[in-house]
Amino acid sequence: MGSKDSRYIRVFDTTLRDGEQTPGVSLTLDDKIEIARQLSLLGVDAIEAGSPMSSEGEKKVVKEIAKAGLDSEICALARTTRADIDAAIECDVDLVHTFVPTSPVQMKYAVGLSPEQVLAATVDSIEYVKKHGLKCEFSPMDATRSELKFLKQVCQAAEKAGADMINIPDTVGIMIPRTMRQLIEEVKTAVKVPISIHCHDDFGMAVANSLAAVEAGAAQVHATINGLGERAGNAALEEVVMALHMIYKFKTGVNTRLLYSTSRMVATLTGISVQANKALVGENAFAHESGIHTRGVTAKPLTFEPIKPELVGRTRKLVAGKLAGTRGIKAELEDVGIHPTEEQLKEIVQRVKDLGDKGKMVTDADLIALTSAVMGEVIQEEKIVDLGDLAVITGIKVIPTASVKLILDGKEYIAAETGVGPVDAVLKAIQKLTHNLAKIRLKEYRLEAITGGSNAVAEVVIKVEDEKGHIVSARAAREDIVMASVEAMINGINKCLIKNRKLGNKK
Ligand code: KIV
Ligand code: ZN
Repeated sequence: MGSKDSRYIRVFDTTLRDGEQTPGVSLTLDDKIEIARQLSLLGVDAIEAGSPMSSEGEKKVVKEIAKAGLDSEICALARTTRADIDAAIECDVDLVHTFVPTSPVQMKYAVGLSPEQVLAATVDSIEYVKKHGLKCEFSPMDATRSELKFLKQVCQAAEKAGADMINIPDTVGIMIPRTMRQLIEEVKTAVKVPISIHCHDDFGMAVANSLAAVEAGAAQVHATINGLGERAGNAALEEVVMALHMIYKFKTGVNTRLLYSTSRMVATLTGISVQANKALVGENAFAHESGIHTRGVTAKPLTFEPIKPELVGRTRKLVAGKLAGTRGIKAELEDVGIHPTEEQLKEIVQRVKDLGDKGKMVTDADLIALTSAVMGEVIQEEKIVDLGDLAVITGIKVIPTASVKLILDGKEYIAAETGVGPVDAVLKAIQKLTHNLAKIRLKEYRLEAITGGSNAVAEVVIKVEDEKGHIVSARAAREDIVMASVEAMINGINKCLIKNRKLGNKK
């Protein structure tokens, strides 16, 4: 399982196993197969598909993934018992990952085994896997809290029993890069078999520790998309891979341009959203607001971007806000075909800053609205999608139902949906159409303000996202909350489509 090229680091993805152990995450069979296909396209060397012994459903998932004909090796996790290993073998996987605790605390309290029993189980399980002709990766669980002498003894026994790879888990994330380097160097004095690393993020060190292990000679890294995993998660695959490529100049099999779409897919299917400031895949990772930054990146991206956003499948975003500079706002407006004079631009920038000072988020819609006020003309926004018709029924004994007619490029499309309320029903119906026609989905919905009495104005702010991960915000204010939602949604969809067509034309 090692590589002949010493600059090649294997990527072992455990999103579907450790990642699924994220509290609150439970993936269906279809979700898991969809993610496995994406991981294989992404180019990871191995996919840990699950723990077949844990349930019949899990066994079925691992079996299905193993027979999906993917390029990545498919791995199943098993404790060091015959029953667990039999369940893994029955799934027809390429690789069995077997583990047993080696730290005093886990041997005594988690599994109730003596060190001698742990040694025996290690040898027996690896020999059993190898007897069945499968590759075997072995993990001394909680390696980083194990007594070094015993850990080395277990690793030597594992190597002798035929393990193809020994994985060192920092199960509760207590290492720092220096101690990790020392530990891997120690283990490497005891065995020749390739070493892998598996880090948890309890102190926010999982990525740094994984990289330190590679510095010390680890040939493989375990990681998960978006850093999902038990408790605080595992090392984030996107961060490990990009650091290996860009900082360390190592190679992996990963097609980095698919990292963002993979992150989006995993966030959607697991329901665990990615924080805005998350490295590489967070919404703000390539967004610039302050004047000096926007001026810098529009002149020379290298000023404030360590890598091109396209390398991870993203685009740069310039944000209007109180820190925004003239050049950034000008670039944002030019992006949608608006060309104010120098004087007008100065005024627009001032108004954006005033809004920001009042603590207001400046959406794309706000920028257009205040630009149109400054330029003294109604900026007729191009419309690709328009509302043809809308009917909503709701009541005490009626399931809220909406039917919507949209006009896209002059053609009419109709869809109906039910929802928990009229707004939900109508937004679902619109999304049903736009998902089929343009792959645009609602990412965020906020009812911003309702003022006054029963005829109050409802202000709806939404964010929509296209399949490439471009996010645009839009807003609408109406006395009718359903109409405000529909208008905001259609504005957002139009912005997304216009932006995409402009980007398409630039190519
Ligand atoms: O964190 C851990 O120790 C694990 C093992 C199963 C390798 O996930
Ligand atoms: Zn783990």
